[in-house]
Amino acid sequence: MKGDRMTETTSDAYYRSGEFLDVLSLDAWEHLGGPVRAALQGAPRELPIADLGAGSGLGVLVAARALPGAEIVAVEPSIVQRAALLARVGTDRELRQCVTVVAADAQTAELPERLGAALAINMIGHLAPDARRALWHRLADRLAAGAPLVVNAQPPAEAVTVPESEFAAVRVGRHTYRGSGSAEPVSDGEVAWHMRYQITDDQGRTVRDLRVTYRWHVVSVAALSDELAEAGFTVTAGPLDVLRAVR
Ligand SMILES: C[S@@+](CC[C@H](N)C(=O)[O-])C[C@H]1O[C@@H](n2cnc3c(N)ncnc32)[C@H](O)[C@@H]1O
Repeated sequence: MKGDRMTETTSDAYYRSGEFLDVLSLDAWEHLGGPVRAALQGAPRELPIADLGAGSGLGVLVAARALPGAEIVAVEPSIVQRAALLARVGTDRELRQCVTVVAADAQTAELPERLGAALAINMIGHLAPDARRALWHRLADRLAAGAPLVVNAQPPAEAVTVPESEFAAVRVGRHTYRGSGSAEPVSDGEVAWHMRYQITDDQGRTVRDLRVTYRWHVVSVAALSDELAEAGFTVTAGPLDVLRAVR
């Protein structure tokens, strides 16, 4: 029940925007899929994979295709994101066989004792530095020898201003969904992302216009690699700042 209480508070950054995240992430995952799949190669298939902050399950799909038959534990604290995740898993007979959806955050989720791989994609900025370092140690204790931890660093690498830009536009029926945003520093290590989610119709009229702000802990690839090395991982950087860390 702990998870239910947690996700029903407004601390869920995706409570309102979660409706739009899946469709607006499709293009990003077209590019991320290859590097994540490559980083998962060599994972021992007999052990489960944990996808931490699985969102709507686009990474779960990549993992399931990269390692067919492997068990996947998809950890997702947001009730809205989790609904999208469960819908993705529920409509696919094969995913339904191998994916378990867990309502929890990465720090406290009950994870299998031994893991064959772990994913933390597009989510690490939700963790403060101490929680992030603790997570690397938690995963280091569970990942088998040669089992990859796959994590990406997202810009900005430092707490700086990021001007407004559109990151995705997707047509669905008569509507076009657009995601845009800008960021401003709120402390040395944190930015506030001011996101805008718009729907326009085929006449260009605005149907919906939603603005959401959330905090994000910035971290550079170099700092992330150093933290992982401190936790005992050997790190290889791949395309799109996707890191593969192995013990
Ligand atoms: C930008 S979304 C990325 C989702 C998915 N990994 C993807 O790339 O499509 C970030 C996700 O991290 C989740 N999240 C936030 N805080 C978290 C935490 N402490 N532990 C695990 N996931 C968290 C959010 O609920 C959200 O679904």
